[in-house]
Amino acid sequence: MERGLILLVAALMAYVAPGVQGTAQLSFANNTQVNITRAGCRVSKLCVETPADCDPTGNNSCLFASVVASTPVAPNGTELSIELSGASKGYIALGLTAKASAGTTMLFICAQNSSNNGTFLFRTKQRNNTDGVLTPTETSVTEIRGTVKGNVIQCEFNVPNVNASRTRTSPDTTFSILIGTGTFDGTDFGPFNISRDSGPLNLADPTSNATTTAPTGSSGAVHPQAVLLLLSVLTLSVMLRA
Ligand SMILES: *[C@@H]1O[C@H](CO)[C@@H](O)[C@H](O)[C@H]1NC(C)=O
Ligand SMILES: *[C@@H]1O[C@H](CO)[C@@H](O)[C@H](O)[C@H]1NC(C)=O
Ligand SMILES: *[C@@H]1O[C@H](CO)[C@@H](O)[C@H](O)[C@H]1NC(C)=O
Ligand SMILES: *[C@@H]1O[C@H](CO)[C@@H](O)[C@H](O)[C@H]1NC(C)=O
Ligand SMILES: *[C@@H]1O[C@H](CO)[C@@H](O)[C@H](O)[C@H]1NC(C)=O
Ligand SMILES: *[C@@H]1O[C@H](CO)[C@@H](O)[C@H](O)[C@H]1NC(C)=O
Ligand SMILES: *[C@@H]1O[C@H](CO)[C@@H](O)[C@H](O)[C@H]1NC(C)=O
Ligand SMILES: *[C@@H]1O[C@H](CO)[C@@H](O)[C@H](O)[C@H]1NC(C)=O
Ligand SMILES: *[C@@H]1O[C@H](CO)[C@@H](O)[C@H](O)[C@H]1NC(C)=O
Ligand SMILES: *[C@@H]1O[C@H](CO)[C@@H](O)[C@H](O)[C@H]1NC(C)=O
Repeated sequence: MERGLILLVAALMAYVAPGVQGTAQLSFANNTQVNITRAGCRVSKLCVETPADCDPTGNNSCLFASVVASTPVAPNGTELSIELSGASKGYIALGLTAKASAGTTMLFICAQNSSNNGTFLFRTKQRNNTDGVLTPTETSVTEIRGTVKGNVIQCEFNVPNVNASRTRTSPDTTFSILIGTGTFDGTDFGPFNISRDSGPLNLADPTSNATTTAPTGSSGAVHPQAVLLLLSVLTLSVMLRA
């Protein structure tokens, strides 16, 4: 029986910036240097990419993500360090979910604002895997760095305090990683178009590379036993910055 309850617990460190909904919990690094390569894949970082084994270095057709998980500290869980690289006139994104065909996905979006000279921007969204609708979320993300060169968007960021605990016996760090693209017109984000679904991976294990799954559109097989993904906010500590 696959029925289970997944709790992705994101404890928040937020700092208040004026403006847009769902951006107050983001903090940016001063250093905008981004250097994403395959170096370390399956050794020190877990890599998911399409086409298979592509190298993001100087290759515009490579959609690439890597994840490094820190040693979990209970009850907060683990901190993820994420790299994402790919070509899009709108956005590229990485999603963490129990299953791409049900429940919800925590989506981390790196985008360029084409109506503002390709300015880099970062957002977190929750994706309803049933209807694809994206809604802003308050997931804490730190050390955000990003660059845009033509169509190529590259970004690096950390997600503190990730903990998936489920009724099934599997590690707290097991998620499916989704990578894909979408449109962004300066105001609205288009649907997340999934290019690669890793299937369940232990994020803490760099060698847990994906079982080869075909690209899943919105038409992926829907299993009757839905896995419910609850995104829950544990703590919200607000640091006021003048
Ligand atoms: C960013 O730079 C400012 C000024 O250069 C400095 O005061 C601040 O501590 C830096 N922040 C980080 C996170 O490095
Ligand atoms: C990027 O990283 C690779 C390996 O980590 C290194 O060899 C290369 O010099 C770096 N490039 C830049 C521009 O920092
Ligand atoms: C980019 O990656 C694809 C797929 O791995 C490969 O077919 C292509 O030759 C690469 N292009 C360059 C310029 O390296
Ligand atoms: C867990 O997170 C909370 C809130 O961010 C923090 O105050 C606490 O020190 C953390 N505990 C551990 C063991 O890291
Ligand atoms: C994950 O959360 C569960 C339930 O809150 C907790 O019992 C467990 O210790 C946490 N695991 C880690 C590694 O933080
Ligand atoms: C757009 O970006 C290019 C490259 O960074 C720069 O040369 C140009 O001045 C920018 N234009 C505007 C209107 O900001
Ligand atoms: C996802 O969308 C479906 C269909 O619109 C809806 O029935 C369901 O309640 C939504 N789930 C969440 C978690 O919003
Ligand atoms: C994108 O750029 C346009 C034009 O400068 C601006 O009005 C809009 O607010 C920007 N969007 C975001 C999300 O920053
Ligand atoms: C989704 O991406 C694929 C290529 O990865 C492309 O062929 C398709 O047109 C895209 N679909 C949408 C709705 O953008
Ligand atoms: C993991 O990657 C290795 C090297 O590319 C490959 O031989 C192996 O089949 C992959 N494992 C899975 C489960 O895809």
